[in-house]
Amino acid sequence: MTGPQLLLRQLRREAEGIVSYEFVSADGAPLPPFTAGAHIDLQLPGGLLRSYSLVNDPAERHRYVVAVDRAAESRGGSAWMHTVPRPGDRIAAGAPVNDFPLYEDAPLSVFIAGGIGITPFLAMAARLNALGHRWRMHYAVRSRQRAAYVQELQALDRTGDSVILHCTGEDMERPDITAIVRAAPAGSHLYCCGPNGMLEAFTAACGGLAPQRVHLERFSASQEAATAGGYEVQLARSGKTLSVEAGKTLLDTLLDAGVPIQYSCSQGICGTCCTPVLEGTPDHRDDYLTDEEKAANRAMMVCCSGSLTPRLVLDI
Ligand code: FES
Repeated sequence: MTGPQLLLRQLRREAEGIVSYEFVSADGAPLPPFTAGAHIDLQLPGGLLRSYSLVNDPAERHRYVVAVDRAAESRGGSAWMHTVPRPGDRIAAGAPVNDFPLYEDAPLSVFIAGGIGITPFLAMAARLNALGHRWRMHYAVRSRQRAAYVQELQALDRTGDSVILHCTGEDMERPDITAIVRAAPAGSHLYCCGPNGMLEAFTAACGGLAPQRVHLERFSASQEAATAGGYEVQLARSGKTLSVEAGKTLLDTLLDAGVPIQYSCSQGICGTCCTPVLEGTPDHRDDYLTDEEKAANRAMMVCCSGSLTPRLVLDI
């Protein structure tokens, strides 16, 4: 990893199933700066890389704060984060990366968050407050106990009515995403981070808006990974040919063969495993490439995508 070594300064329970982690620089040097919406990759044991949005004010240089939801179907990262790290532990991290940037000049920014999807919006609200710009936030959770950062949101909410909490399991209504989008004034920018159903509703509601006003971040895949197998993959640089068997992803096959490949989310979201394709037609299952990029078939996410042709040739 090319980023800083971090020292875990404290853990804090933020809500039912949600813990936050405050990291400082292990050597005391200022941390690399970040912008609102950025994430860091943490290097976990077993080669796992996990991306977490930075929650704290981007003006801060002395710490990174992330929050982790204890996912029922954890693929290792969230379960490890919830059980192992203790204050004083060191952990390697990548430098902050921003795939979900804030457009800072909008007259109004409208945030729609579901569950742990609140995390990037805390940093965005802090940044907009610093700029003196308006924002509004709809925050949907299953119950009040699952609502993290309520006090922080109250402190950030300078108008007193900028945060609307929707406890969907307590007879309160789900946010009406279509109505929220319709009510957004011209020129406002809209952001959504949450579960797939919420993102689909958001995408559908924003269909008529200029794409540059619409921003979303996923934290779980919208499609199953391709595991049907039954194709060969040729590695152009080494000349090796591997057979991808049923039940395995292409990434599993590459890792089992000792091919060094960078990956993080394993779900087609982060783009870390993007691999150039020289021949063949991938079965794209990711949420990272655009439709145009998928149609061009010049790259694929090997963590989740497969092949529509009997052979793929990759530039690795
Ligand atoms: S590892 Fe994240 S897209 Fe493949």
